[in-house]
Amino acid sequence: MSTVARPQSAQAAKARPSQDALRKKKKQGERLVTLTCYDYTTARILDELGLDMLLVGDSLAMTVLGYSDTLSVTVDEMLHHTKAVVRGARQTMVVADMPFMSYQVDHVEAVKNAGRFIQEGGAHGVKLEGATERVINIIQHVVEIGIPVIGHLGFTPQSIHTLGGFRVQGKTLDTARRLFSDAIKLQNAGVSALVLEMVPVEVAALISRKLDIPTIGIGAGNGCDGQILVIDDILGRYGELSPRFVRTYMPSRDLVTHAITEYAEDIRTGRFPDNDAEAFRFPESALGELQAVFEEFA
Ligand code: KIV
Repeated sequence: MSTVARPQSAQAAKARPSQDALRKKKKQGERLVTLTCYDYTTARILDELGLDMLLVGDSLAMTVLGYSDTLSVTVDEMLHHTKAVVRGARQTMVVADMPFMSYQVDHVEAVKNAGRFIQEGGAHGVKLEGATERVINIIQHVVEIGIPVIGHLGFTPQSIHTLGGFRVQGKTLDTARRLFSDAIKLQNAGVSALVLEMVPVEVAALISRKLDIPTIGIGAGNGCDGQILVIDDILGRYGELSPRFVRTYMPSRDLVTHAITEYAEDIRTGRFPDNDAEAFRFPESALGELQAVFEEFA
């Protein structure tokens, strides 16, 4: 019997759309709606909305854990969040990002770590960044043992020091050619879908047209087969970066500031809690006796 901790929710094992469903939607011309997600409560909400995939992105290093980039987050930290999302997402596919140094060393370590995301985390696939010969080889090994993999090209945050910061990739003919070639290599290696991050619209659209697998754009324009954004960005919660490609749908920081200011004011002025509506009363018929009990201690 396995001693590995399983996800807590019984519903986690329910059948849900597979990675093939993504390809099918591309064929039918349906755009994929995907989003990052890092916790149970948010996963419960998103799970009702018919999204095609939730990504437990290593962006949580920045948005949830407060690191300055994605490089510091560990497999254990990613697993902790993956399990929470899987408990909440009862019908939506959950993909976990493999963090920096969890797959780059060799394929044995990569396969073991990918396996942990499936076996312990309950994820339905993993995402890896890049398309170097080493990464392609590693992806082939992970796919070969039956773990769906999503690729990630363009701006790959785990290579931020090589790329020299948050920079658009594929802006020249040479770098665009390289992106085309890498995208095809990833498809041939067996990835189920490909995230294209911060790639010019025209390049991303041509790659999307060329590939059979769906592309999922973030800062890559409208010609991709689907889109992804970081949930904290669209909810206006993470204020430390404001990339051009983010559309904010909700001013969470303002709403939270307003709500907590009111909460503090209600406590300070004695308006919270309301003893009748927000607390528990002692039986009125025994209040006299309660007073007597209290006086025994006086
Ligand atoms: O970590 C992440 O959130 C990602 C998405 C931005 C694609 O990789």
